[in-house]
Amino acid sequence: MSDRLFRSSLDSLVDKIALVTGAGSGIGRSVALALAREGCRLVLAGRRPGPLERVADEVRAHDRDALPVVCDVGSPTDVDGLRTSARQAGVVQILVNSAGIAPAASFLEMEDALLEEVLRVNFKGTYYCCKRFLEPMIAAGWGRIINIASTTAKAAYPHTAAYTASKHAVLGLTRVMALETARKGVTVNAICPGYTDTELTRDNARRMASRIGGSAAAALDRFAGTSPQGRLIAADEVADLAVLLASPAGAAVTGQGIHVDGGAFMG
Ligand SMILES: NC(=O)c1ccc[n+]([C@@H]2O[C@H](COP(=O)([O-])OP(=O)(O)OC[C@H]3O[C@@H](n4cnc5c(N)ncnc54)[C@H](OP(=O)(O)O)[C@@H]3O)[C@@H](O)[C@H]2O)c1
Repeated sequence: MSDRLFRSSLDSLVDKIALVTGAGSGIGRSVALALAREGCRLVLAGRRPGPLERVADEVRAHDRDALPVVCDVGSPTDVDGLRTSARQAGVVQILVNSAGIAPAASFLEMEDALLEEVLRVNFKGTYYCCKRFLEPMIAAGWGRIINIASTTAKAAYPHTAAYTASKHAVLGLTRVMALETARKGVTVNAICPGYTDTELTRDNARRMASRIGGSAAAALDRFAGTSPQGRLIAADEVADLAVLLASPAGAAVTGQGIHVDGGAFMG
């Protein structure tokens, strides 16, 4: 695709309303700002108002509207409220599910409550948002759903049973939804990042250091070393792919789990 065609494809994102969950930090924040740069108006969801307000200010600095909405995506009632609030902005045609948690525990040590909370936020949160925002996209004849999964949607690492199960479930949901919307103008994809340079990864590094010894910096180096590129992924690199999938240039891409992981996973 020529630069000119790609640019005009991005231009058609201007004034589209995008809802990003987990928008207060990390990948969600980067996606929200990348979509704002392409002209989208943003609805920003997360639990803590402070980070959402700060990202809303950053979006407005791009001369784009931003509506921060406090919402626990694992609560169907909260997501109903999010839908009501988002209607003030208009019809959400781009939904990016980035809200997520990643507590680590060995399978034997894992409490039932941990499994329930991870599935509630990572899987059910994605499901509730998809469920409440898909129909208006179909009615509009155009929509994009982008679920931030993980390489653990297709692979497994120790001490991540709940997280890995939740991300496999997100990818399964993505694939089924893609089939059911394929002729309705909507695409549904998952992005599968490797270790990304965000607070979630830094938290995991601190936890690993306290569990097995050594420093958090050494744990981060170990994470980076799992990638053939020998580095962490930048949240902006995940955001750039989300913008491509959201644009008309991504129209034929649906039902995919696309890795952004420096070549860590192939297949
Ligand atoms: N970092 C990585 O290496 C990596 C790799 C692969 C995939 N991912 C995925 O990428 C996504 C974003 O993670 P990140 O790395 O950007 O970490 P992050 O900075 O911790 O972002 C996670 C966001 O989710 C929000 N959140 C958590 N629980 C929520 C809930 N119940 N309802 C609404 N919002 C909630 C958090 O804000 P509040 O606490 O204010 O709600 C936070 O802004 C996650 O789904 C994660 O699984 C991350």
